Amino acid sequence: MADDKLGGAGLRGQSAGETALCTVGRTGAGLTYRGYGIDDLAEAATFEEVAYLLLCGELPDATQLAAYRQKLKGLRGLPAPLREILERIPATAHPMDVMRTGCSTLGNLEPEGDFANQHAAADRLIGVLPSIINYWYRYSHDGVRVDVDTDEDSVAGHFLATLKGEPPNDLFRRVLDVSLILYAEHEFNASTFTARVCASTLSDIHSCVTGAIGSLRGPLHGGANEAAMELIDRFDSPAAAVESVRGMLARKEVVMGFGHAIYRESDPRNAIIKGWAERLAGLPGLPGLPGLPGKAGDESVYAISCAIEKLMWDEKRLFANADFFHASAYRSMGIPTKLFTPIFVCARISGWTAHVMEQRANNRIIRPSADYIGSEPRDFPALAER
Ligand code: COA
Repeated sequence: MADDKLGGAGLRGQSAGETALCTVGRTGAGLTYRGYGIDDLAEAATFEEVAYLLLCGELPDATQLAAYRQKLKGLRGLPAPLREILERIPATAHPMDVMRTGCSTLGNLEPEGDFANQHAAADRLIGVLPSIINYWYRYSHDGVRVDVDTDEDSVAGHFLATLKGEPPNDLFRRVLDVSLILYAEHEFNASTFTARVCASTLSDIHSCVTGAIGSLRGPLHGGANEAAMELIDRFDSPAAAVESVRGMLARKEVVMGFGHAIYRESDPRNAIIKGWAERLAGLPGLPGLPGLPGKAGDESVYAISCAIEKLMWDEKRLFANADFFHASAYRSMGIPTKLFTPIFVCARISGWTAHVMEQRANNRIIRPSADYIGSEPRDFPALAER
């Protein structure tokens, strides 16, 4: 019985602690960050406001926000030893492994030390993670040592500017900003829970985040946006996609970017990113950026995505989650597929570190029990008798 309820059901429906940071699918509340609805935040806030809200408890006023943006801007630099390590990681590495190594290395070079430094350490990670991934990406793929001190005053702008080597347009900047808001926080998901378990041992913040990055890497969690893109890229047309995905369903294969552990009817983040993906898909000349396997007209990534979404709902009542239309939106902005999940890290770092602080503020080591399903007690045989 216990096996069914716990191990077999992935702890679904069990409360594993308290949080004031987020509600996910709670009746009447939906997805909220510290009480603010995701629709309002995605419509009117910026990622920096959301990060401040999560980490400090309240929205910043205009002066606080300007100061926070300026602060994050000053925290983007890469220490020389970290640059050297990034330059040694080959282009074939998994970008999430680069993020994990980057975070862990920073923990050596700039250790958190006393928990009194936790806010400074969290802000540093928010500032520097986009620099880490794009410095490695540009160096390993293009041989360019990108300048991570951009003039951009947002995390989204900084990410795009370091990736492309030039300032992004306002639309791309805003879409990525919204994407970071959508990915910033999501209660006790697998990576956040990893961070909290680590925090509950009173470990340092870099260890908590390094572990969380490892959890987010998996295709059942953050890796789903990349996996969705890889799926969509297999098809030349919506009709081909429908035929193939129908076959996947018949074979009981998992279709990445669909379903959710908590939401039952829809993922509130999907409509928001889908709206932006549609707008991007309608831009002249997009998708189909140089060097990317983009498609045009009816064969666009967005059209194929819509066809798969409809089929999944019609056949299985499975809805697109936050990851699915991110694939289309990111592709339209010319973001390489392998950087999709690292962007998730650049956003969720705000939620992870806020959860680490919350755990520390009211801590007891997280140590559940297991239901034993092994052998009855038995006599130990000597080596020669086995
Ligand atoms: N494709 C095909 N079938 C799916 C599916 C998907 N993406 N998601 C769920 N299902 C099926 C399950 O296999 C299960 O079938 P069964 O009853 O025959 O065993 C049924 O739908 C119910 O699954 P559910 O309990 O809702 O899912 P879960 O809580 O075990 O898993 C996910 C949740 C997110 C891990 C799962 O939906 C999944 O693997 N999705 C794809 C990965 C993904 O997009 N992850 C990002 C999440 S934001």
